[in-house]
Amino acid sequence: MSQAQTPGQAQTPLRMTDISKAYAGIPALRSAHLEARAGEALAVMGANGAGKSTLMNILGGVTSSDSGQIVIDGVEISLRSPRDATKHGIAFVHQELTMFPTMTVAENIFIDSLPSQAFLTDTKDMIRQSQALLTRLGCTISPAARVERLSIGDRQLVEIARALRHNARIIIFDEPTSSLTGPERQRLFEVVRSLKAAGVVIIYITHFLDEIFSICERVTVMRNGETVWASPISDVDPAKVVHLMLGVTENGAGSAHRSRRLERLSWPSMA
Ligand SMILES: Nc1ncnc2c1ncn2[C@@H]1O[C@H](COP(=O)(O)OP(=O)(O)O)[C@@H](O)[C@H]1O
Ligand SMILES: [Mg+2]
Repeated sequence: MSQAQTPGQAQTPLRMTDISKAYAGIPALRSAHLEARAGEALAVMGANGAGKSTLMNILGGVTSSDSGQIVIDGVEISLRSPRDATKHGIAFVHQELTMFPTMTVAENIFIDSLPSQAFLTDTKDMIRQSQALLTRLGCTISPAARVERLSIGDRQLVEIARALRHNARIIIFDEPTSSLTGPERQRLFEVVRSLKAAGVVIIYITHFLDEIFSICERVTVMRNGETVWASPISDVDPAKVVHLMLGVTENGAGSAHRSRRLERLSWPSMA
């Protein structure tokens, strides 16, 4: 994890500018941009197909951009693989969790060191380190438990523990609460808050407006592959965000129906 930030002095360690990407000639991103600060969570919002996951896959080294710059701490970087992203302190907590179910929690946390370094990795030490990471997350699951026995929420914490093991300072959450129970969702929010307090940059993709007010300091809205709006949470008006996401005006006839539908979708359970 990075150095703690002084409250009120949030820095801008991550900047993505002019990011474009086309799949088979069809643009998925058109000069998209994004800025995120240490110790803050940036919500990335947008309707399905807006380009959120594509932008994050580029940041996670999962896919390459056709053009654009990624700057971390003022230095332009190039990401050719997820391993490159890990080296730069970027971690991705995927929507579809990337666990090995028949392996233990500790083995999943140390998966990048297995099997080539397995003979070097003392199992006891691996379990001890995993335990420390899980404790830091306020999580009581056993490092020796098989992942297949865990709930989705616990598996997600194992992914976060893996990110911490790599000292991730930028953690991307792609719709992390879509399969969580209410209490798991609250626990995740606590984890996000503690990561922010430790100076981590959080990028938080969600459809849920109530979540952004709970844990995000800033909001970026994407539509049709473009960044259409970015602002501090204090300037966020839910109706405006919904309209920006859909690209409709206040008085468009069909738009009223569409935005009502989206607002319903976006306010699931005010926990
Ligand atoms: N691997 C892919 N191959 C082809 N098209 C893709 C691929 N990934 C995303 N797209 C397209 O790119 C656009 C943006 O998708 P995506 O980034 O998944 O949006 P979001 O996460 O905001 O729902 C969509 O039109 C989608 O169909
Ligand atoms: Mg997506």
